[in-house]
Order: sequence, then structure tokens, then C-alpha cells
Amino acid sequence: MKMEVYFYKVLNMSSVVIVVLFLTMVVTKLITSLPSKKKKSVRVPPVLQAWPPLIGTLIRFMKGPISLLREEYPKLGSVFTVKLLHKNITFLIGPEVSEHFFNAFESELSQKEVYRFNVPTFGPGVVFDADYPIRMEQFRFFADALKVHNLRGYVDPMVREAADYFSKWGESGEVDLSVELERLIILTASRCLLGREVREQLFDDVSALFHELDNGMLPISVLFPYLPIPAHGCRDRARAKLAQIFSKIIASRKRSGDKSEHDMLQCFIDSKYKDGRETTESEVTGLLIAALFAGQHTSAITSTWTGAYLMRDKHYLLAAKDEQKKLIEKHGDKINYDILSEMDVLFRCIKEALRLHPPLIMLMRASHSDFNVTTREGKTYEIPKGHIVATSPVFANRLPHVYKDPDNFDPDRFAPGREEDKAAGPFSYISLGAGRHECLGGPFAYMQIKAIWSHLLRNFELELMSPFPETDWNAMVVGVKGKVMVRYKRLHVS
Ligand code: HEM
Ligand SMILES: *[C@@H]1O[C@H](CO)[C@@H](O)[C@H](O)[C@H]1NC(C)=O
Ligand SMILES: *[C@@H]1O[C@H](CO)[C@@H](O)[C@H](O)[C@H]1NC(C)=O
Repeated sequence: MKMEVYFYKVLNMSSVVIVVLFLTMVVTKLITSLPSKKKKSVRVPPVLQAWPPLIGTLIRFMKGPISLLREEYPKLGSVFTVKLLHKNITFLIGPEVSEHFFNAFESELSQKEVYRFNVPTFGPGVVFDADYPIRMEQFRFFADALKVHNLRGYVDPMVREAADYFSKWGESGEVDLSVELERLIILTASRCLLGREVREQLFDDVSALFHELDNGMLPISVLFPYLPIPAHGCRDRARAKLAQIFSKIIASRKRSGDKSEHDMLQCFIDSKYKDGRETTESEVTGLLIAALFAGQHTSAITSTWTGAYLMRDKHYLLAAKDEQKKLIEKHGDKINYDILSEMDVLFRCIKEALRLHPPLIMLMRASHSDFNVTTREGKTYEIPKGHIVATSPVFANRLPHVYKDPDNFDPDRFAPGREEDKAAGPFSYISLGAGRHECLGGPFAYMQIKAIWSHLLRNFELELMSPFPETDWNAMVVGVKGKVMVRYKRLHVS
């Protein structure tokens, strides 16, 4: 999901703007800074000191927030503040200090300020452009659309899309797995979320328009979403065309009164606010765009990492294949929601790949009230209001006091008896967020990835030809760097 802000990338790409901003800040600072006389009695978090003053932190942040966290966590601990231009960003790392981050009320910690750069992409009146009570209701629409009884209905199209897609592969060959899975997932997402009309008649148009929306979300857009640059112009035109296309489809569905389609589009059309108001065509379009942005790259990336680990770790590959074999013995070729739910080994492999490689590397909130956190060493800090607070799934998911040998791919760490993700409390595994804003699409994503990998495991012999992939830290949604070449050979069951 591109709702996340990666300051360092913003800074990379917009150095001119930053320099100007920076100079303004320095001047303001010089003019306004008078020695403060008030001594605070409560301890505030340690502040990252970098050389040269002011700009030092900026330079280090630009090189990457994750490496900064890696270097500073051992020195400063699990709570520390980074002063970045005019903002204080306080990092809260680890389950012990994360409860407030994940569970606070909107009045205490809010998303709107840090995620509002999505507004021109999602469109007016939805999500971060909506006031909180309306936004809450819209999240309810998402939650309803992704409930179990709806998920059951998405399995068939998911399985069919995967089977169709891979039927076009030859007897054997080499493919870039990350490209293949990205394509397949946009087809599946179109079918399950955007609906049959788009998938069957308008797929090329609509996916091209989504591509332009994607290209219109640049790191610079995070700071200046309305900057008059060509990419933003394309984004706005694409958004307008999508609105036209969806208006027609929605109007036609409403006219015919046909409720036979089971997709997210229909769920949103049927959604009603508490006061009885129906969703508008513009809102339905915006919510669908938000869903695609939340779920598409994130799921494709997670499928790719899962595959890369399975091909590298033969032990788990065999275990996952064996599980499929047993399920075939039990149920035949059939796959439905319940059968997908029996794929525990595969589930844990996906979960472990997602632990090691969360595509959303930084979650943020704007803080509107002071709050205290206590570290596992027993230190209490007060985080003053006005700070941006942040946590990083990449970093938090690899803490050695939570996960044994945290850098190892070890899916069994989630198995009954170990359950390392639960031992340190509810905020130990945060690839899908947690608490109040936990990802609503998690079960959908897992189902989709299981549908894909169960098909591949059942039908192909796969081998990783390129070196094990590296991480592309520069992407808005962090995935693999470069190609992931895989050699496949079709299996023929006798
Ligand atoms: C592997 C795939 C996915 C990953 C890694 C992922 C990750 C996340 C994370 C980390 C958050 C929390 C953001 C925060 O706290 O600031 C989130 C929220 C959300 N995700 Fe996902 N997501 C995935 C798939 C999906 C899918 C497929 C959908 C929908 C079809 C979806 C819909 C949402 C929604 C609506 C929220 C907002 C929930 C709220 O704020 O109450 N996600 N996701
Ligand atoms: C934080 O803890 C200190 C010391 O116990 C207390 O004085 C202060 O009121 C607390 N702040 C908040 C916001 O709870
Ligand atoms: C950042 O923190 C410092 C204290 O360390 C404070 O003086 C300053 O006002 C804060 N800035 C903002 C924007 O909150």
C-alpha cells in the first residue's frame, strides 16, 4: 500500500526543494531560537545527534531510515527522536513501546496528516479526504467487503485466474517471477475487486489507467501532491477517466437491479452510511482505487519473496509440496476457502516471508497529545504532542528478543508450541499493522497468495536461476530489486 511515507526517498528525489526548505528553517531557527528557561521534569526521549548539526540527521535519513535505525537502536534504545527539518519524528521500536501507536484513538494519534498525499490519487470524499466519522464508516465498508462470507466467493475466481494464467506458460521455460506474479495479481484483483465488466471488457484500459495513477505517486508527491509536474497531470487525467468508466458501470448495475455479482464493487454499491445515505459513484470509485493501491503491489511482492524462499530452502519446499499432496489425496483437485485454510505449512511460509520483508517499511501517525511509554529496560519517556510518531515493521519484525535468529527464514517459528509472534505480546508481528488500523485485507492477501502458490507447487518444478533477490529500498512499496529468474518445468501427474 502506498499510503506509507518514506521520508528518506522523498528527500533523495527532491533535494532542491529540501535545500530551499532547509535554508528557510535555518533562518527561522536563528531568528526564533531563544534559550529556553523551562526545565522539563519528565524525561523526553533521547534525540539523535548527528554531525554536522541540523543537516547531519538529514543526510543520514536520506541514506535510508532503516540503516539509521540499525545504527541508532543499539545506542539510543527503543524510543528516540529524530529531528528532521521542522519535524520531530519519534520512533517507537518493539512490542513493549508500541501499544499506544497501534491502539490510540484518532483524537490522540491520527493518520490523516501523514497520509493525505493520497487524496489526488484516491479522489475526493474518500479515506484521507473524508472526515473521521465518514472515514470510519468507509473502513467498515472495506471490512464488510472482506468478511469471510465474501472471501469464500473470491476463491473460485482467484483459483481460475491462476489456472488460466499459468496454462499459458509452456512445457518448460524461464520467467521473471516478480513480473509474472505482479501481472497475475492485477488480473485477480480486477476480477475480485473491480468486477466482471472491467476484467472482461475493459481490462487493458483500466490497467493502463491504474499504471498512470501509480506513476503519479512519486516520492516528491508525498510532500507536494499538487505540484504541477507531468506525472501529476497524467495522474489527474487517469483518475478522471477511471471515474467516467466506473460511473457507467455503477449506473448500469444500479439500473438493471442485478445483484448477482459478488465482488467488491457490488459490496461498495450496496454499502450504506448509518444515516441511510447510499455511496455515490465517486465514492465507490475512490474506495476501489484505495483497495487496489492497498493490496496489489503488497501482495505481489509477498508472493515473490515466498517463492524465492521456497526455492532456496528445499526443506520447506518439500514440506509445502507434501502438504499439497496430502490435500489432493483428501479432496482431489478441488480448492475452496476451507481447503485453502488447511494449508498451514504454506501459510507459515508466506507469513515468514512477510515478516522478513514487509513491503510497507514505515508506519506513521501525527500525535495530538502527550503520552508515556515504558521500555523493556523500565525507562519511561514522555513523547510531547506535535511529534510525528513512527514505527518500522522491517526493524521491529527482526528484534532478537522477540524472534530467535531473526534473520533466518524459519516458518516453524509460528507453529503451535513456538508461536514467537505471540510470546512478546500483540505488537510483535506488524507487517500488516496491528490494533486499530490493522490491515483489513490480510485474509484476502493470504488467500490469494495461497491460491497462486498451491497451483504452482502442484503443477510445476521450479528452480531459482538468479541469485537470491535483494531488497529495492528505493521503491514506495518496498519489494525485490531486479529480476527473479525462475526456470519452470510442467509436472505431469499420472
Ligand atoms: C501482503 C499484502 C498486504 C500488506 C503487507 C498490507 C499492509 C498493511 C499495513 C501495514 C496496514 C496498516 C497501515 C497503518 O497502520 O498505518 C494496512 C492497512 C490496510 N490495508 Fe493492507 N496490506 C496488504 C494487503 C491488503 C489488501 C489486499 C487490501 C484490500 C483489498 C488491504 C486493505 C487495507 C486497508 C483498507 C487498510 C486500512 C485499515 C485501517 O486503517 O483501519 N490491504 N495494510
Ligand atoms: C508521564 O509520567 C509522568 C511521571 O510519572 C507523569 O508526571 C506524567 O503526567 C505522565 N504523562 C502522561 C501524558 O501520562
Ligand atoms: C521538537 O522538539 C523540540 C524539543 O526537543 C521543541 O523545542 C520543538 O518545538 C519541537 N518541534 C515541533 C514542531 O514539535
